[in-house]
Amino acid sequence: MNIIWVADYDALAEQAARHVRDLLRANGTLSIALPTGDTPIGMYRRLAAYAANGEISFRHTRLFNLDEYAGMAPENPQSYHAFLHRQFLDHIDAPADSVRLLRGDAHDADEECRSYDRAIAAAGGLDLAILGLGANGHIAFNEPHDPWDRETHPVTLAETTRNAHRPNFKDDDSVPRAGLTMGIKTLAAARSILLLGAGLSKREAMAALLAGVKDAAWPVTSIIDHPKLTVIAEAGLKPTTL
Ligand code: GLP
Repeated sequence: MNIIWVADYDALAEQAARHVRDLLRANGTLSIALPTGDTPIGMYRRLAAYAANGEISFRHTRLFNLDEYAGMAPENPQSYHAFLHRQFLDHIDAPADSVRLLRGDAHDADEECRSYDRAIAAAGGLDLAILGLGANGHIAFNEPHDPWDRETHPVTLAETTRNAHRPNFKDDDSVPRAGLTMGIKTLAAARSILLLGAGLSKREAMAALLAGVKDAAWPVTSIIDHPKLTVIAEAGLKPTTL
């Protein structure tokens, strides 16, 4: 695990964008899994700027999202589909047919997950999975104590996750109770992983990761032995024992 501690959010966004830019310059046909949440927004802004000034291009990449709320149509502004378009996809040169996002509103969620796995396999697997981190240690929507041997699958969201998402919804009942997510097996199979840690609420999850022991209560620990894992995290998340 390569850990890069950065002073603040801007530095995290800068480092993360450079990391992705350098990988993309070395291999213009990357297949990439993209996160949602507040953490990656600054990185997305910078990557879009690199694409706009011609430093990088997403023309030959394959892009996927990590997860989606179950039952949510892509047109819903609260969907991860809409978020990714707003924050990133609408500002880069990726052709529409190179982007495959999970359909939260699929009639048959299991079939949608299998179709998604086939699309990832057809892209040759993931070259890069970019991950945010839940305060409860989740990666994508793989919640504490969920099994680690699954590819894309439907999930029940943990109450801690629902609480974290509550400010984005008008009331508690509107907060989704379920999602679709790439599984730990999908993420662990990515040829490289970039994990981003921002916000003090992630301190405990980061400590679990750095403790170096796999623990089902902290899904992020599932990737500790990945051969190409880079972590970029705000220095405020550094455990005091380090
Ligand atoms: C959601 C997403 C995760 C994301 C997490 C962190 O739960 N499903 O993929 O990593 O939020 O969000 P934030 O970056 O806003 O802290």
